[in-house]
Amino acid sequence: MCGIIGIVTKRREGQTAEIAVECLDRLSYRGYDSVGVATLGDNLEVVKMKGKVEDFSHKFDVNSIRGKVILGHTRWATHGPPTDYNAHPHTDCSNSIAVVHNGTIENFRELKAELEMLGHKFKSQTDTEIIPHLIEEFKRRGMDSFSAFKATVNAIEGTYAILAVIRGDNRIYFAKKYNPLVIGIGEDTNYISSDIPSFLPYTKTIVVISDDEVGYLTADSPLNGGVYIEHKGEKIEVNDRIKIINWDAESASKEGYRHFMEKEIMESPRSVKETISGLLADIDEVMKAVKILKDSRRILIVGAGTSYHAGLLFSILLQREGINAIPVIASEYYNYRTSTDDSILAISQSGETLDVRLAIGKFKAEGSKIISLTNVIYSEISRQSDVSLYTSAGPEIGVAATKTFTSQVASLLLLWSAIKDEDFSYLRNAHIVVEDSLSLSGKASAFGEELAKQSNAYFLGRGLSLPLAMEAALKVKEIAYIHSEAYPAGESKHGPIALVTQGFPVIFINGEEDLGLQDNVQEMKARGSKTYSISINKSLNTDREILIKVNDKRLFPLAIAPLIQILAYRSAVIKGTDPDKPRNLAKTVTVR
Ligand code: F6R
Repeated sequence: MCGIIGIVTKRREGQTAEIAVECLDRLSYRGYDSVGVATLGDNLEVVKMKGKVEDFSHKFDVNSIRGKVILGHTRWATHGPPTDYNAHPHTDCSNSIAVVHNGTIENFRELKAELEMLGHKFKSQTDTEIIPHLIEEFKRRGMDSFSAFKATVNAIEGTYAILAVIRGDNRIYFAKKYNPLVIGIGEDTNYISSDIPSFLPYTKTIVVISDDEVGYLTADSPLNGGVYIEHKGEKIEVNDRIKIINWDAESASKEGYRHFMEKEIMESPRSVKETISGLLADIDEVMKAVKILKDSRRILIVGAGTSYHAGLLFSILLQREGINAIPVIASEYYNYRTSTDDSILAISQSGETLDVRLAIGKFKAEGSKIISLTNVIYSEISRQSDVSLYTSAGPEIGVAATKTFTSQVASLLLLWSAIKDEDFSYLRNAHIVVEDSLSLSGKASAFGEELAKQSNAYFLGRGLSLPLAMEAALKVKEIAYIHSEAYPAGESKHGPIALVTQGFPVIFINGEEDLGLQDNVQEMKARGSKTYSISINKSLNTDREILIKVNDKRLFPLAIAPLIQILAYRSAVIKGTDPDKPRNLAKTVTVR
């Protein structure tokens, strides 16, 4: 996955590294195995280490790192374990070229062998290190820097967002295929990064780079040639691409909360409100999606992790209407064959997840129409879609999806009502349901505190509560490192109940009153389980209970979502894990 940043400035040299490290901190949700920066002034200097951005700031005097052109990288290891040597940036033999890269180079072994035959010496086990050596090799053969960079990009196969600095000019060279890259235009400083939030405090003026584009960035304004982009040899008119985004910088900072995760859960009412008003303002686009979905023989709903759970909930809503809706775990896309009669709804917060992109690539080639629901404007997945819908949750920095999940669910409720030709004005009050539910967060925290003492837990639900139970189990597992599993409550008798002994925690998610959960509670109690429930409107008589009153039952998932997130968050805090950066995970998964 990895996060990359490049900054080129006309300002005093001293501040730039500090800003780069700050941008890297906001990018570190993309990976936090190692961190490094390269600065180009009179010399090229590289400082890098295994560890997180905060460790980097403690170890190095960032203010003393000088240069007007800076590259930075935060890594999620793919090729080579997380070590100081494998940390980016990587350099060539003569220490004149530095490169940061997000992605994977498939033909790196062959290229490395060829370069070694030509005398190049490698210091790391990464695929990325071939890039500076290739640029060096092409320069040795007489090419200018940009030509050498382009020749390198032509030689590599795989997925990439690459930034390079080359001694001799004050440019950042860039290339993109599959992995995201966006330029931020500042006053006397320009930025190029994996995502917008990293440079959001400095500029909201952006240029999104598309696949197969290469170019370079200087500190000049685009009007004075500061941004040059080419696609397959053709120059791109940059000024036509400039966009202003409406995210605010505060949304990318913790604003006094201990963790982004907590702050982002608390932002859910606002995110849901803005999502609904955003979709209503873009109702023509919503209705285009609705028409496609209604005209389809089958609807495949594709997503990974939390987004899959939102899709599963939507598929149940549609199936209950007699619509042929199939929830698809994105990474298992090859099991499905679609046709021109089918449509695809791709759900992805980041709009980048590779498995989702591969799935829609296949289904599009089979003739299906693609609708996407993402939280990132101009994201890769949106650009691959026939109709792009957005949640307006604002940037989400915590690795665990929280406010974006609640906003996805709100969006899907709107689509569901539109498909049924139902008046969807009730969704204007959706955020109040989330707000009211958050007033019970103390109780959810208390559940979390008890759960933190356990090593295992079951989350059980029926009907629409099952995807919520699955989401709760995923959250608890990924941030509190407690082994938790979700099952359809009825299914728990067919195996899982064997693990239940005295005090084993079973948490019931009870959104729909009359589906039979009551019996399952009794079965668990009879085996000594400690029973908990999060229930809507009617008590389940568990040992511990949170009872939420929701007047419009259609909105109940929006009441449960923030409480399961709080429960997981509190367990993580009590256990002392970092909920914003759970081990081995990254927020954006751009590998298979
Ligand atoms: C869990 C979580 C992940 C993501 C998954 C898909 O809290 O955040 O399971 O939901 O990686 O990501 P997107 O939605 O960006 O495609």
